[in-house]
Parts: sequence; structure tokens; C-alpha cells
Amino acid sequence: MTREEAKSIVSQMTLEEKAGLCSGKDFWRLKSVERLGIPEVMVCDGPNGLRKQREDSENINDSIEAVCFPGSCAEAASFDRETMYRAGQAMGNACQAERISILLGPGTNIKRSPICGRNFEYYSEDPYLSSQIASAHIKGVQSKNVGACIKHFAANNQETRRMSISSEVDERTLREIYLAAFEDAVKEAKPWAVMCSYNQINGTFSSENKWLLKDVLKEEWGYEGLVVTDWGAVNDRVKGLLAGLDLEMPGSGGNTDKDIVEAVKNGEVPEEILNDTCERIVSRIMTYVENREEQAVWDKDADHKLAVETAKECMVLLKNDDQVLPLSNEQSVAFIGKFAEKPRFQGGGSSHVNSKNWSSALEQVKTMENVTYVSGFDTKDAVSEEDVRLEKQRFNDAIAAAKQADVAVIFAGLPATYESEGFDRKHMQLPEIQNQLIQAVAEIQPNTVVVLHNGSPVEMPWVNNVKAILETYLGGEGVGEATVDTLFGKSNPSGKLPETFPIQLSDNPSYLNFPGEATKVEYKEGIFVGYRYYEKKNMKVLFPFGHGLSYTTFEYSDMTVSKERFSDEEEITVSVTITNTGDRYGKEAVQLYVQDVISQIPRPVKELKGFEKIGLEPGESKTVTFTLGKRAWAYYDVESHGWYTEEGEFRILIGASSQDIRQQKTVYITPVQKVKRTYTMNTILGDLYQNETVKEEVAELKRMCDSMFDTQGEDLLGEGMADMMEAQTREMPLKSLPSFSEGKISREYVEKLLEKMNQ
Ligand code: BGC
Repeated sequence: MTREEAKSIVSQMTLEEKAGLCSGKDFWRLKSVERLGIPEVMVCDGPNGLRKQREDSENINDSIEAVCFPGSCAEAASFDRETMYRAGQAMGNACQAERISILLGPGTNIKRSPICGRNFEYYSEDPYLSSQIASAHIKGVQSKNVGACIKHFAANNQETRRMSISSEVDERTLREIYLAAFEDAVKEAKPWAVMCSYNQINGTFSSENKWLLKDVLKEEWGYEGLVVTDWGAVNDRVKGLLAGLDLEMPGSGGNTDKDIVEAVKNGEVPEEILNDTCERIVSRIMTYVENREEQAVWDKDADHKLAVETAKECMVLLKNDDQVLPLSNEQSVAFIGKFAEKPRFQGGGSSHVNSKNWSSALEQVKTMENVTYVSGFDTKDAVSEEDVRLEKQRFNDAIAAAKQADVAVIFAGLPATYESEGFDRKHMQLPEIQNQLIQAVAEIQPNTVVVLHNGSPVEMPWVNNVKAILETYLGGEGVGEATVDTLFGKSNPSGKLPETFPIQLSDNPSYLNFPGEATKVEYKEGIFVGYRYYEKKNMKVLFPFGHGLSYTTFEYSDMTVSKERFSDEEEITVSVTITNTGDRYGKEAVQLYVQDVISQIPRPVKELKGFEKIGLEPGESKTVTFTLGKRAWAYYDVESHGWYTEEGEFRILIGASSQDIRQQKTVYITPVQKVKRTYTMNTILGDLYQNETVKEEVAELKRMCDSMFDTQGEDLLGEGMADMMEAQTREMPLKSLPSFSEGKISREYVEKLLEKMNQ
């Protein structure tokens, strides 16, 4: 439905009907206005499957059976827009079949700390990757004429006090990192809904943050869809309405509807604002209604297969010494660990899908005589004496099994009680019993492989003692098939890490400021999140951002750029040829990073600005082409509130991970628009000298200053002092010129100069 048509419907609504439309009917439904043909519609949680409450149940957690796709943590590791689109499409189709108008997801919040309890539901520590993967998911869902709802906007990066805390973040950091994770997805994929977060940003709740919802999202980004609260995130409904909040979920029992009616009547809220909100809501509801696919069929078996294929794209081979993987059917293999039997394949909380069709690795190998199984550990802690006895028994059985086999594969991971929506992790370790078991097995079995099931990084004290590590993240209901196919080489792993695995939690840049104090959490690390920090500090990490191995090898060659000198307003293309130099089919996620070679402002060593995944037969080559525009080079300038590029050299780096750069080229960029500075009496000479708009006047002032201050140094203070004086002069604020020049540079002269410069 067009906005005009929605306008016409809203114009026929009473004030009470309009106010009513601004909040839900119940937990999952929006209200109807039957006399105008607006039906009641239902939304449900995603993002990795449908969590739709059963129609005959009163319990909001009693959901229909559904297909569980890999968690967002895994999906981002696919580094593949097509994979994401297909999964989104399947979920969109399921929504049509189940009469769901909007699927609540994806969650695009940045992984500021590895121990945020909800990281499994988010994509990455990098905003470009997050936004691109979210965009593909949204486009997939919405290709079926149902809506996606990007969440939780914004700066919701922890679970501790998530409903009340204030995230204290400076504007550059918000723009370059936390909002950027949403920006491309909102602009490119146009999600039907944006869910605002529970938390406050710099002291204002997201649900009533005009700067966030109106100025940035709706005006600057041109967002036409509706803003919905996270469930129960309203603080002051009227303030929210004025700030750009459209829909409150769930309902408020009519209380806030009354507040809105009252506020319109007493003039606090102009009726046009309420109309705008209702038009946004009506146009989404009616677009869904007009495109209902009554005949949609949800083929759960087909979706299960797609979940398996998706999971395969997401597996990250972290390590593979001596090519211990893939396994062969000729080897005797000991599967060890509870997760082989009962994998952890999804996270807990609102994204939890009632999946009955999940597969285990054990089930997949049941006909293979060369594979044995022992549970090795339990995911519950031992409390009683009997528990302790059983724990020992399991441990010893595992060692015995590992000794007898050619290869031991340990299925380890985080139990559900370790990470979930609603709380943050306490540390970054696996359960101690698992670490002990891996160590002990590795001591007696040289071919030890670890398969991990976890929604976010873990410390790996045994990393150097095992030969291979396969990260499955939370792989969705197809994880069993996908894991076994990967272990035995039917599928070649091609996932890349969407986040850095630090060696230990205390290495992480947010460590000293997470999860904050009583009411606030300060993002003191600024833009230096994830690899942006580790690289800047030249730190060793366990596994870097973008890392992931394959059973084949790829060669990168013939990088070209369409232009070597250009303005920041021009687009350029960058190409590189990738060749499969191994002996089996494989996929490679090619990554492009940009580095500002010399910068006046603090910038990361490099930032991801492009990625493409391609499949190659042995010996085959393909050329990958990237397009780069202004934002690839720009930083956010807080003084002038805009994106600017500094003039100079930039390096374009292409590689297989952030730490494995294979090709590079240097280009020279001239910005069309230079950052506009405001000059005051406290501007220092060094900054003034950069000004090019009143070049002549600045040059004249510089001559005067040089002759007065610099030369004095050499004579009076001795050799080498001219440099010191020059440096000191550059630090001098304009207000000091009259006194230091003993009146030779007058105050009027400086004032006039300032006036010209600020014009
Ligand atoms: C979560 C949202 C979710 C909503 C509805 C909230 O607590 O933060 O992500 O969509 O509940 O279940």
C-alpha cells in the first residue's frame, strides 16, 4: 500500500482509533480497525526461525514447531550474502504460511565484548559485515512480502541491566561503529520495522531519543518504515511519539493510548505527528494484507535441508595441522563429548525455536563402523558424590577410547546455562571439565580434533596441543549433518571468523568498562572495537578477524584498481583474481580492507570495506570485483557532523583474513569537500596553518610568526632549538599572539583574520 493510500485511511480514523493503533493488542498482535478494513495482524520472533505462539495456548513460550536455521553468530561466518538471502527467503515463506506479518530480527548489535550474553544472536564486531549480512537477511525475508525488523537500535551491547542502563558513547564511535551496523541495512534493504533498544544512549532512552529515531533514522537515512519498541521499552509514551517512536509492543492495556489522546487534545502532540505514525503502521499492515499468499506451503523438510546447507557455509576451520582433517573412512575415529549426541545448536531467550528435527553428529555416523562414541563429560555440573564418580568414569572411558583410535574428535562447547539472552557471561572459558578432558586426550592422542559449539569466543588453553579445531558456532538444527560432512570432507569448510578470538578476556578493549557501573556503561575504547583495537595495539590474538581455513588452497593475483588518483566523490572498482590451487572444490571469502596511510586523526590500522564469497573447482580462476565509494575512506567528523576523507594516500588491502593480506595497491584521494572548521581565539597556530581558504593571509601570519619566534630560539637557547621553538609556536593559541609578539600582531588583526576564516 502506498503512503498516499494509507494517508487516506488514516484521515478517516478517530483520534481514539489512531491512538489505539500505536500499541499492540496483546503480546504478539497489533490492533485492528475493522470498520476501515484494517485487520489484526501477528508478529513473531526470529531471527533464525519462527517462534510463533501456538494459537490454542496461553503461554507465550509455547511455540509451534519450526525450522531452526544457524544462529546469527554462525550466519555471519558465512561471509555470504546469497546464503543469508536464501535462509531469509525460506523464513519469509514460513511467515506467509503461518500468517505472520513481521519477523522480529535480525539483531545487528555490535559485539563489543565477547561475553555479552546475547552475542550468539548478533553478527559481528565489524559494522560493515554486520550491516551487509543483515541486509541480505532482510531482503530475503521481505522478498516474500512479509516484513523484517532490524533490532535493537542502538548501542545495546550487553545484557546486564539491558532495560535501564545508559550506554555512554561519543558521536564518532556511534556513527562509525554502532549506528553503522544498522545504516547500510536500513538504507539498502528497507526493513519494514526498526526495533528500538531498551537502553538509554547518553542518558536518553532509545524509545524517546529524537536524535536517534527522528534526526538520524527517519530524516538523515530516509527511513519510511515503522519504529517499534523492544518489548516493554516505553518510558514515556508521549515523549516517544514526539521523538519518532511509532508502535509500542506489547499492549499497555489502553493506558498509553489514553496518554496519547490526552496529549493531542491538550496540544502537546500535534495531530500530524500522530497521523504520520499511523500512516507508517497502516501502510505496513496493508502491504502485508494485500500480498497475502493464502496458498503458501511450508515444506519443513526442504527448509531442514536448507538449514543443513546454510550450516555448512558457516563452519570455520580454525586450525588444521598436518591436514588431520578431513577424516577418512579408513581411520578409526573416537567421537567424544556430549555435544556429539546432543549438540547445542541455538541460543536461549526470545530467539528460541521449537525445533524437533535437529540432527546430531552421532546419528549421522551410526552406520559407520569405524566411529565409536563416549560422552566424555556432562553439560551439568557434578554436585553429588555419585555425579563425581560418574564424571570420573566418563573421563576415563574417553581417554581409553581416544587411545584406541587413530583420531579423537572432541565435541565441546558452552552449555546453555553459560550464555543466553538476559545475562552476560561471567568469563570466557569453557567448563573446566571440558578443558581438562581436551588436555588429557591431547596428551595421549596426537590426532586430536576439537569441534566447538558456542555462540561467542572461548579461551583455548589447549590450542597448541590439538591438531584441528572446527568452530560450528550455534549451527541450527542441521548442525549434525553439516558437521559430519565437514569432518569427513564431503563439504569443504569456508566460513571466516566474524569476530576476533582474543587469547584471554582481559585482552578485549572493553574489559575495564564492561558491563559498567550502576546506571552507566562507558564505551571508553571508542572506535577501537575488536580487530580495530588489537591491530592498533599490535597485540597477539588467538584467531584474527576474518580467519578461516579450507581443505584446498587459494592463490590471489593480478589486483587492479580502476583509478589510482581520484576524488572521494568518485566510485572506483578493484579487482583481484583468485585461483583454486588445491585438489578439491572449495569456496573462499575474499576480504577487502582500507587503510588511511597517514592520518591527522586516530584511525584503525585498517577496516573491512568489501567481501565476496566465490566457489572454485580445482585449477579454476575467477576475478572478483569490488566497488568502493566515499564511505570506504571517510571518518566521521564530530565538529561538523559529517563524513570526510583526508587528502592523501590510502592502501587497499585484499586478503584471506585481516592478518593474511595477499595483494595491495596504494591510491591517492583528493576530497571534494574538506572538513569545515570553526576557528576561535583558542585555535592553535598549527591548526590554522592547515587552512587553505584564506591561504595568503595565513601565509603572511606564518611569516610574521616565524621571524619573531623561531629564530630567537637558535640564538638564545643554543643549537637545535629552532625546531623546538617552531613546535612550540605551532601550539600557540591565537589569543596569545598579541602578548607574545609584544603588540606587533594586534588583537584587531587576529579578529579580522578569524572573521574571514569563519566565513
Ligand atoms: C527481546 C527482543 C524480542 C522481544 C519479543 C525482547 O525481550 O529483546 O529481541 O524480539 O523480546 O520477544
